[in-house]
Amino acid sequence: MTTIEILTPAAAAEAVPALAALLIDCVLAGASVSFQPPLERDRAEAFWRKIAGNVADGTAILLAARQDARIVGTVQAQFAASDNQPHRADIAKMLVHSSARRRGIGAALMGAAEVAARGAGKTLLTLDTVTGSAGERLYASAGWTRVGDIPDYALTPYDGLCSTTIFYKQIA
Ligand SMILES: CC(C)(COP(=O)(O)OP(=O)(O)OC[C@H]1O[C@@H](n2cnc3c(N)ncnc32)[C@H](O)[C@@H]1OP(=O)(O)O)[C@@H](O)C(=O)NCCC(=O)NCCS
Repeated sequence: MTTIEILTPAAAAEAVPALAALLIDCVLAGASVSFQPPLERDRAEAFWRKIAGNVADGTAILLAARQDARIVGTVQAQFAASDNQPHRADIAKMLVHSSARRRGIGAALMGAAEVAARGAGKTLLTLDTVTGSAGERLYASAGWTRVGDIPDYALTPYDGLCSTTIFYKQIA
């Protein structure tokens, strides 16, 4: 059984090694999520320590999907930093372990992230994802609006440059 939880600052700090392992798995499996393989454990853990810091200072909500005690998925809502966008958050680092996909975990994480962001007063969510990816299909199926593509936006782990697709969702 899979449970979705919002991580407290303490839980986020404790989850750093597990989240690092999840990020490494996704990058190795070909996900274009900021990092290129080989992604060293120290670097992955440093990334998640920074996110745990965001949770602690109240600028992000971090969610985890667990099967038994094991973290098999995560997503975060990063609050926009600008004074004039107090209502907006970016959805980032939606990751499901390569061994746990197509079982509804990504959709459950997104649903929980939307509820949590709304609870924090956010009414507009934005994100970008690799054009034609599983992520694009997930967001389209979750009712997000596709804005358009930016060509040659980022490197993928194994296939050179890829286009990114921008989405938004109003959750008021
Ligand atoms: C994108 C990702 C999070 C999806 O997670 P998931 O748990 O497999 O997604 P779900 O099982 O909840 O899928 C929900 C819906 O999304 C769509 N979908 C998800 N993966 C898909 C795929 N590989 N092919 C086609 N449709 C897909 C389907 O509509 C699916 O519903 P269905 O299974 O009833 O057909 C996962 O593939 C992943 O971690 N990829 C690597 C990291 C990444 O690229 N993240 C996105 C960064 S923006």
